[in-house]
Amino acid sequence: MASVFEELREFFPLKSETPRAWTQVALSNMNAFMIDHAFCERKASAHAMKLLMSNPDKPDFCEAMIQLSIEELEHFHQVFRIMKSRGIALRGDAKDPYVNALMDLCRDGSEHDRFLDRILVFGIVEARGCERFGLIGEDSPDAELREFYSGLARAEAKHFGIFQRYARQYCAPDVVARRMDELLTAEAEIVSRLPWRASLH
Ligand SMILES: [Fe+2]
Ligand SMILES: [Fe+2]
Repeated sequence: MASVFEELREFFPLKSETPRAWTQVALSNMNAFMIDHAFCERKASAHAMKLLMSNPDKPDFCEAMIQLSIEELEHFHQVFRIMKSRGIALRGDAKDPYVNALMDLCRDGSEHDRFLDRILVFGIVEARGCERFGLIGEDSPDAELREFYSGLARAEAKHFGIFQRYARQYCAPDVVARRMDELLTAEAEIVSRLPWRASLH
């Protein structure tokens, strides 16, 4: 059977595949995983609004970010409802070493570079989330979670496409491709050195 990574390869070009051993670590404590997941959805919604506020001169992009922020908030609501039904409480802000390491790669030079790096990085975060939700959706022994995470994987695959579209709309395709390749190489290195936890990253 093709891995989730192989099935999704045509949608996004991640350079490393999350091993099934990662899934076992996540599945070993799904309560902790869902607490972290809820945090990630809430942050994704907030990041979309922050990107919008930094780019008021791009109305099409702003519209897409409003829609994305709403969808991520809906994901947050969905995971919150499952947690609530299972008696699992939310937690406050926590560090996300994966996202922080990726954000450190974003250049602070020209407005063009700042915009490009941030939307490429957020697209990569969506792609990695999509892959990992797909793994949980395949391997969880819990039918409700299998259905929930498979559906989320499909939604996150679309989110990667949104960031790609706007990168290509506002920046030259060869510049986008070159920078994307650099960031994907760095992302694979970041993923390889971070310890596995019962969390999305
Ligand atoms: Fe989401
Ligand atoms: Fe997303």
